[in-house]
Amino acid sequence: MKFLFVCLGNICRSPTAEAIFRHHLEPHFPEVVFDSAGTAAYHIGEPSDHRSIDHAEKRGYKMTHLARQVCDHDFYEFDILFAMDESNFQNLMQMCPEDHLKTKIHLITDFATQKGHKGVPDPYYGGPQGFDFVIDLLESCMGNVRKNFLEHTKRKP
Ligand code: 4NP
Repeated sequence: MKFLFVCLGNICRSPTAEAIFRHHLEPHFPEVVFDSAGTAAYHIGEPSDHRSIDHAEKRGYKMTHLARQVCDHDFYEFDILFAMDESNFQNLMQMCPEDHLKTKIHLITDFATQKGHKGVPDPYYGGPQGFDFVIDLLESCMGNVRKNFLEHTKRKP
């Protein structure tokens, strides 16, 4: 199973998601691949925003990703593409090279136990609490992602 997390710049939300999901799921599902990418090209090759790195580190997550842009190959390579917000979702739907691959695209907050959020709010132009909230909301998506995409693949003894 290969997961790709997608936001706009690939320096705040999606690399945070990649780090959180890897941290919690890799020990239980070592075969799963976690990656992230942006729909925009603004920050290609850059490390994540230092505010995201700092907030993640305080909560036990290590972010080492370098930004990259989504490419056509990603729609074939990855099993699930998680859009961070509705704009990312619409962009991915438009970029998707073949219609049948669109079923791979999901809005991450559809899996949140913390209800009432359609998308992870972009923290880039806001204050520090926005970066913490990104982590809270993404953590609340973990259990349902695990149940939906990972646990059903395990065989009963
Ligand atoms: P992200 O946040 O999509 O969560 O990585 C942003 C990063 C950069 C910009 C916008 C959003 N930007 O306009 O440069």
